[in-house]
Amino acid sequence: MTVESVRPEAPAAAGLREPPLAGGGVPVLGHGWKLVRDPLAFMARLRDHGDVVRLRLGPKTVYAVTTPALTGALALSPDYIISGPLWESLEGLLGKEGVATSNGPTHRRQRRTVQPAFRLDAIPAYGPIMEEEAHALAERWSSGRTVDCTFEAFRVAVRVTARCLLRGRFIDERAERLCAALTTVFCGMYRRMVVPLGPLYRLPLPANREFNRALADMHLLVDEIVAERRASGQKPNDLLTVLLEAKDDNGDPVGEQEIHDQVVAILTAGSETTASTIMWLLELLAAHPEHGDRVRDEAEAVTGGRPVAFEDVRRLAHTNNVVVEAMRLRPAVWILTRRAVTDTELGGYRIPAGADIVYSPYAIQRDPKSYERHLEFDPDRWRPERAKDVPKYAMRPFSVGNRKCPGDHFSMAMLTLVTAAVATRFRFEQAAGSDDTTRVGITLRPNRLLVRPVAR
Ligand code: HEM
Repeated sequence: MTVESVRPEAPAAAGLREPPLAGGGVPVLGHGWKLVRDPLAFMARLRDHGDVVRLRLGPKTVYAVTTPALTGALALSPDYIISGPLWESLEGLLGKEGVATSNGPTHRRQRRTVQPAFRLDAIPAYGPIMEEEAHALAERWSSGRTVDCTFEAFRVAVRVTARCLLRGRFIDERAERLCAALTTVFCGMYRRMVVPLGPLYRLPLPANREFNRALADMHLLVDEIVAERRASGQKPNDLLTVLLEAKDDNGDPVGEQEIHDQVVAILTAGSETTASTIMWLLELLAAHPEHGDRVRDEAEAVTGGRPVAFEDVRRLAHTNNVVVEAMRLRPAVWILTRRAVTDTELGGYRIPAGADIVYSPYAIQRDPKSYERHLEFDPDRWRPERAKDVPKYAMRPFSVGNRKCPGDHFSMAMLTLVTAAVATRFRFEQAAGSDDTTRVGITLRPNRLLVRPVAR
């Protein structure tokens, strides 16, 4: 890829420059075709051309931010909001009234509503469920019998999220339905973002029909969850009760649509991300059995041989490092966007009001400028004496600022527990027919990972 123009423009306007235009665009689709064909490699190379570069997606100009420091500045600045192609497609599909897509006072109110359920001191209450689900997962597997990781990872992710936060007695069939729906919806949404061809997506083509069916099923699933709770007449101490009893800015009960959209936001954000990370963890444990052995050794040293428990999590330092390193190399959330609400700047570049900005945690977290042996799976790089050398904002898989993931502590506890529970019992190998190539949607996950657990 070449940079076609580096036009230092409008020096009079506070000496700000216009970001260079990335090369390789084609008529009509601009850089969209690269973002469809090989988006990870495309994003990973953009830093070679500038700290901020312009991309063309169809008729739109989008600004890509490529350095850790500037992604931090972007996420922390009040000049940018959640909007732009990703969020427009998300809003149209997942709903406008959930915490993941709202802005301003509504977003602040919704964060205040959901935040208590995710605070560090709220997590131990979920410990028994996380523990039970992590061990149930390992107990379902038997030595030598191939495991379909997509199904298993979704199952445990949905069950933990639903049982902890929605106190739902989720049957497996629902986890399967959600998994199928989200796969189709998240891949389709990604396409709609990078190739925004509006009306074409409404044509009755098989791919559009499949997408619409999946989306409808996901919303139906959420309606079922809310209706079940209302019909039960129960008000357990959980996030769903808080959502059902929340008040809007005028102190009135929030509308049905907002409740629906909030449940969609929690369930989709909580299950797709953690499920994808579990799949990648299994792939990495199969590729690096020595780290599986170290996880087992650490867990046994901490527990003395009893099943690993939630209380052990904070002492499982290596297991935690395995999870963090998996999230560095294989981030579930690999692309994020914002929109400028005012004329502003980033790193000395002019960003006009209304501009869409994109950045890739995948590119940032694999950047050779930030990491030695950047493509190597090396959990020890997160030992305190080495982690201090990682540049600020070069590892922020949960983002920072007012949109930082509320589920960060929740996810880390769950992922560490699951990793320890499965690695204590098994070593893993990829099975025949497994396809661990990366499937790119709104999140990243392996296409079809099959592993064979081998009992220790
Ligand atoms: C937001 C990552 C798990 C709920 C985010 C964002 C990231 C992220 C990067 C910020 C998006 C942005 O800046 O635009 C992850 C990763 C996870 C994970 C990597 C697991 C490996 C969870 C879980 C939940 C959750 C378990 C809930 C059960 C949310 C919600 C938001 C969010 C509701 C929107 C927050 C807002 O806009 O205020 N997540 N997440 N996430 N996440 Fe997570």
